[in-house]
Amino acid sequence: MKAVLIKSLGLIHDSDILEFADDFARPSRKKGQLLVRVLTCATSAGDMHVMSGRVSFAISPPSFPYIPGHTICGIVEEADAEAEFKPGDRVIGHMGMKPWGALAEYAVVEATNCVLAPDSLSDEVASACGDSAATALKAVELAGVKAGSRVLVLGGSGGVGSVCVQLARVAGATFVASTSTQVKMLTEELKVDRAINYNEEDWWSIGEFQEQPFDCIVDCVGGGDHFGKAQESKVL
Ligand SMILES: NC(=O)c1ccc[n+]([C@@H]2O[C@H](COP(=O)([O-])OP(=O)(O)OC[C@H]3O[C@@H](n4cnc5c(N)ncnc54)[C@H](OP(=O)(O)O)[C@@H]3O)[C@@H](O)[C@H]2O)c1
Repeated sequence: MKAVLIKSLGLIHDSDILEFADDFARPSRKKGQLLVRVLTCATSAGDMHVMSGRVSFAISPPSFPYIPGHTICGIVEEADAEAEFKPGDRVIGHMGMKPWGALAEYAVVEATNCVLAPDSLSDEVASACGDSAATALKAVELAGVKAGSRVLVLGGSGGVGSVCVQLARVAGATFVASTSTQVKMLTEELKVDRAINYNEEDWWSIGEFQEQPFDCIVDCVGGGDHFGKAQESKVL
């Protein structure tokens, strides 16, 4: 089968680590798993973290070369007779805590990590929903965004953040601000009320936010003491 292969740890921009194969062995499934013909595969920050070796203290590729990618939309080719899914079903599948094996013509996925893809979703959107959008949904639910909320989404241009911005609106948030260098995209496409370029302004020191604090801040960047900064500056 055709597959994208990663030959060694490195950055995605480094073409030396990538290879395209058209004769990679098709994976075979075990009981409880589905063999899926991949239509689309979504990649995210997690793929890049594994690929770069940045998270090797917790998770490393099984061997080299390996097939990256961990969320797909595809057609079930093989399933257990008693499985919830049957050949021909279009499913969204997630490779689970082993985030690789999906960026190929076929992938083996645990049936418990799959759902039927709704007809209303394109193949592209469906595969993106399996990871980034699902993470965003949980984040917005846990943050308690509701009608009238003032919400700040850190990293609103990213896979998770861009969905958080949209879901905050759906939940009825009346003011949505977000940070990213992609200010035009935030204002014109995601229609945020206030876009902050983090290279030019510190969101926690903006007077307007201190006067009218946020009800919730959804952190889709990570790595900084964002909660501490928000509390100290009283923007939350
Ligand atoms: N994707 C998932 O399903 C998933 C699941 C669980 C956890 N996570 C974690 O959630 C975080 C976001 O994931 P993602 O997939 O949305 O990543 P992503 O698509 O790479 O988005 C990252 C966002 O962070 C912003 N950013 C980058 N550097 C920054 C900086 N120095 N200061 C402030 N903002 C900065 C980026 O803004 P620019 O537009 O300026 O680049 C972008 O909006 C990651 O830590 C990831 O590991 C993701």
